[in-house]
Amino acid sequence: MDFTDQVAIVTGGASGMGAATARELVTAGARVFIVDKNVVLATAFAEEIGADVLIGDVSDSLFCEQVVEKVVEKYGRLDILVNAAGIIVRADALGTSDEQWQRVMNVNVSGVFYLSRAAVKVMKAQGKGAIVNFGSIWGGVGAAGVVAYCTSKGAVHQLTRAMALDHVKDGIRINAVCPGEVNTPMLASERSEPVTEEMLQRIASTVPMQRLADPVEIARVVLFLASDDASYMTGAMVNVDAGYTAR
Ligand SMILES: NC(=O)c1ccc[n+]([C@@H]2O[C@H](COP(=O)([O-])OP(=O)(O)OC[C@H]3O[C@@H](n4cnc5c(N)ncnc54)[C@H](O)[C@@H]3O)[C@@H](O)[C@H]2O)c1
Repeated sequence: MDFTDQVAIVTGGASGMGAATARELVTAGARVFIVDKNVVLATAFAEEIGADVLIGDVSDSLFCEQVVEKVVEKYGRLDILVNAAGIIVRADALGTSDEQWQRVMNVNVSGVFYLSRAAVKVMKAQGKGAIVNFGSIWGGVGAAGVVAYCTSKGAVHQLTRAMALDHVKDGIRINAVCPGEVNTPMLASERSEPVTEEMLQRIASTVPMQRLADPVEIARVVLFLASDDASYMTGAMVNVDAGYTAR
C-alpha cells in the first residue's frame, strides 16, 4: 500500500496495535504523528521508526485540539486518524469503582470523540479524510469481568456509526476495526496474576483459530480501512478475530 505524502495521527502509537499501525504507515510512506501518554516508550519508538511524537492524554479535550493544530501547522493537512489508545479494567460492576468507570469512559470513549471531532474539522475543509477507531469483539458481544471496557467499546462502535453518517457528505470515511485476542501489553495489564505461557494458551484456546493475533495482523486491516482501497466503506465494524464472533 502506498501512503506517500499522506499525514496520519496514531493515538496509542507507542505500544501494541497502535505501534504496529504507526510502523506500517511509516513503511508505506506516510508522515506519522504518534500521540501517547507514555513519554519514554513513545519517544523511543517514534525515533526508531522516524515518526513525530506528541505526548499527552487523549481524554483531555484541549490537548486533542492542540494535537490536530500542531499536525496541520507542520504538514498543512491531516489525511488519517487512527484512534488506538485504550485502557482496560478487569472487574464486574461490584468490583468497579466510580473512578475506574470514569477513567475507562474518558479514555476509550471521550478520547476517541475529542480527537475525531478535531480531525473532522480539518478533513471536512479538505473534502477528504479517513478515521479508523479501535472497537473490540467486546463492543459487539458481552464478556464477563470487564463491564466498563465492554460498555466503552460498544460506545465506540456507535460513535463510529453515528459520525460516519454525519460526515459521509464531507468525504470522510469512518470505520472501526474490532480485534479479537491480540498479543499486546494490554493482554497482560490489570490482571491479579502474572501472565504465564499457560494463561496465554488458555486465552488462545477460546479462539477458533486457537492462537492469539500478532499486532501487525490487525495493523494491516487498519491500513486497508485508511486507504482509498476501502473507498466504499464507512460506518463498518470490521472484526479481525479469527472467528471469535462467528459462533
Ligand atoms: N489487546 C487486545 O486483545 C485488544 C482486543 C480488542 C481491542 N483492543 C483495543 O485496541 C487498542 C490498542 O490496544 P493494545 O492492546 O495495542 O494496547 P496497549 O496497552 O499495548 O497500547 C495502548 C497504548 O495506548 C496508550 N494510552 C493509554 N491511555 C492513553 C491516554 N489516556 N492518552 C494517550 N495514550 C494512552 C498507552 O500508553 C499505550 O501506548 C485499544 O483501544 C484496545 O482497547 C485490544
